[in-house]
Amino acid sequence: MDRIFIFVFTLSLFSAESQAASFRLVNKCRHTVWPGLLSGATSPPLPTTGFTLPSGKSRTLIFPKSWSGRIWARTLCSVDPTARKFSCLTGDCGSGKVECAGTGAIPPATLAEFTLNGAGGLDFYDVSLVDGYNLPVLVVARGGHGGDCSPTGCLIDLNVACPRELSVAAERGNGSDVVGFGTAVACKSACEAFGDPQFCCSEGYSTPDTCHPSVYSVFFKEACPRAYSYAYDDKTSTFTCASADYIIIFCPPPYTSNKLLGARRMAGELPLVNRTMMYLHSRIGRASRAAGLAISRLLAAGFVIFSIVFLRIGI
Ligand SMILES: *[C@@H]1O[C@H](CO)[C@@H](O)[C@H](O)[C@H]1NC(C)=O
Ligand SMILES: *[C@@H]1O[C@H](CO)[C@@H](O)[C@H](O)[C@H]1NC(C)=O
Repeated sequence: MDRIFIFVFTLSLFSAESQAASFRLVNKCRHTVWPGLLSGATSPPLPTTGFTLPSGKSRTLIFPKSWSGRIWARTLCSVDPTARKFSCLTGDCGSGKVECAGTGAIPPATLAEFTLNGAGGLDFYDVSLVDGYNLPVLVVARGGHGGDCSPTGCLIDLNVACPRELSVAAERGNGSDVVGFGTAVACKSACEAFGDPQFCCSEGYSTPDTCHPSVYSVFFKEACPRAYSYAYDDKTSTFTCASADYIIIFCPPPYTSNKLLGARRMAGELPLVNRTMMYLHSRIGRASRAAGLAISRLLAAGFVIFSIVFLRIGI
């Protein structure tokens, strides 16, 4: 009797394990992020649809094996003191709560997309900038086999480099208290910014043959060669693996990612990070930081001079 029980118990444990995938969500951003999770229409639901993930923290979730859906991170969230509604400056899902409860990200947001246990028993995954970009995201498959099991993502901070006509900035009362007024917080897709069917791959441009990359999608693709830059960018942007667990890192440090990725072979011709872009970007970053420092020094000097003059007059 006991032995049968133990046998059945072990069997159910074993099958439960082979039916599930673990997802570890890691926040390497300097600020808190609020991951959002949206399950596909025919997908089994998840234990959570959104939660708070402080800087430096991680949370592991067990996903049903045939889950499909999207994961993203919301930034600069707060609760409106009068309406008591929760909302976020980027990636908001409009639920008014931390849980998204079946609603998706309002663009722009960097999306990690999954179809677990799809055709041929493979997991299909990608990182998409088709709905724009709000922060760097890295997806790493662990312990899988079959497929290429390559890491994918967008490791460069594109908010700084974003073309002006696509850029979303923090406004007064909307994130400006945290990141500063006018700081770029997201980068729209050309489809969202202009609504042109050529950019959206809609109407007369709704097939792979008629919808082509644009100057804007090329900007995303050059910075993040493995991420989806427009709707038909499948060939270089979809990755597969079987029976893997996944790590999703928000704001992965681009320089140390090789250590994390280990000796994993890099499938496809396209690199995970465009080193040229990263170099240019870090120079831009340093230059603007230096400019910021210079301005704050000038202001400090101005304040000292002003105080001295003021004191003299006072006397
Ligand atoms: C903040 O952004 C939301 C959504 O974009 C908007 O409805 C709201 O009016 C903004 N609040 C302020 C104070 O600008
Ligand atoms: C990397 O970025 C540079 C500069 O934007 C671009 O010329 C180059 O084609 C990019 N490389 C890839 C692999 O996209």
